[in-house]
Amino acid sequence: RLDRIPHPPRRVPLIGDVVGAHARTPLQDSMRIAADLGPIFRRKAFGKEIVFVWGAELAAELADESRFAKHVGLGVANLRPVAGDGLFTAYNHEPNWQLAHDILAPGFSREAMEGYHPLMLDVAGQLTAAWDASEAAGRSVDVPGDMTKLTLETISRTGFGHDFGSFERERLHPFVTAMVGALSFAQRRNVVPPLLATLQRGAEKRNAADRAYLNRTVDDVIAARRAAGGGPGDLLDRMLEVAHPETGERLTPENIRRQVITFLVAGHETTSGALSFALHYLAQNREVLAKAQEEVDRVWGDVDVPAYEQVAKLRYLRRVLDESLRLWPTAPAFAREAVTDTTLGGRHPMRRGAWALVLTTMLHRDPTAWGDDPESFDPERFAPQAVRARPGHVFKPFGTGARACIGRQFALHEATLVLGLLLRRYDLRPEPAYRLKVTERLTLMPQGLRLNLTRR
Ligand code: HEM
Repeated sequence: RLDRIPHPPRRVPLIGDVVGAHARTPLQDSMRIAADLGPIFRRKAFGKEIVFVWGAELAAELADESRFAKHVGLGVANLRPVAGDGLFTAYNHEPNWQLAHDILAPGFSREAMEGYHPLMLDVAGQLTAAWDASEAAGRSVDVPGDMTKLTLETISRTGFGHDFGSFERERLHPFVTAMVGALSFAQRRNVVPPLLATLQRGAEKRNAADRAYLNRTVDDVIAARRAAGGGPGDLLDRMLEVAHPETGERLTPENIRRQVITFLVAGHETTSGALSFALHYLAQNREVLAKAQEEVDRVWGDVDVPAYEQVAKLRYLRRVLDESLRLWPTAPAFAREAVTDTTLGGRHPMRRGAWALVLTTMLHRDPTAWGDDPESFDPERFAPQAVRARPGHVFKPFGTGARACIGRQFALHEATLVLGLLLRRYDLRPEPAYRLKVTERLTLMPQGLRLNLTRR
């Protein structure tokens, strides 16, 4: 029952609410519509009606796992041809979800993270070497490009022992190009009408080639590990060798391929965006930058290579990261479906299986939770007393419930570590004319962000 849910005024038969919509920025379009229509609204595009929710109270209801669960639809379902029943794209009822979750969860424990720390430092060292060279030459740095190199190398080396050599290349590794190609292809499926899509034979062909390349690369990585007779006990070793603790079941070779692709994709784009937005806000807010630098200097002292425990101690820097993820949660929405017939907000009946999209970017701007200046960048929003004063379920950059992000601690450790290292080493200055412009693939990124560096 949708009749109580507002929608944009101009509706065109067949194509729906696409008038005024921008094919490249569907999310930011929805944000504008959200501001007009309120905490729950619907948009129709090409015969599909999508209900959007962003009000804090309604979103908290959707987080109730006794009534709602993850819905695999839209962009997520479009990734199925690439990621199959891998963790991110598996349907809740698929047995491979629970199996892989139980086998892989220990790969994200504290002990496991401590094990990844030296490799993370190593990759960060490649980044600072590249940035030192730019700084010495007086060149600004391409932030999203370099953060993408960093996060791809980090997940591929810590997870799978594979070095893509991203920092030794001028251009993106073909794996990244193929991955971005497959992701944008999936994204376009949401905005291009099916009829037009079938006419895009060229795009279909390129997509098939991209997917074949992704599969081939992953198969090579797995073959190399098998030939070496095992590795350092990383995610790939778990996938290949660990049986389920209770049932003794193992992941199939086809599922392992899906998981490796899933982790390479899920493990890098989002973290790269999070780091990029944080660096943007640090460069734009001198006081915040100074305070964060003071913290790193104080907490790390003379230590050049921080130990694992010294990363979590950067409390202020974590708030900077959280505040960046509040304004631009790089995975900007997630879908929830009713697990029983229920009523949302006491007035919107939902049948079992009916679903809604939580618009995280707007949930993170709801004035009832975040006050009347939600657009301002203020890390103090994440000081402990401020967090305690807020209602629950209003900060969801990593999704919610059983299907929330398994890599959350990994991403936070990696990002805090890298930001710490960068702030200790450089002063950051924005390009004077830069205005934040957000690009949308499946994830968000500050487009064209370059920063000028000076060694401290
Ligand atoms: C799931 C965000 C980093 C692996 C998710 C979801 C969100 C998210 C919102 C839930 C999606 C949904 O409900 O449909 C992020 C953000 C990250 C990040 C913002 C960085 C700042 C990572 C990293 C990894 C990872 C580093 C792996 C190392 C996954 C996987 C899932 C997932 C495998 C699916 C979990 C499941 O359904 O069981 N992530 N993520 N993510 N993420 Fe992340």
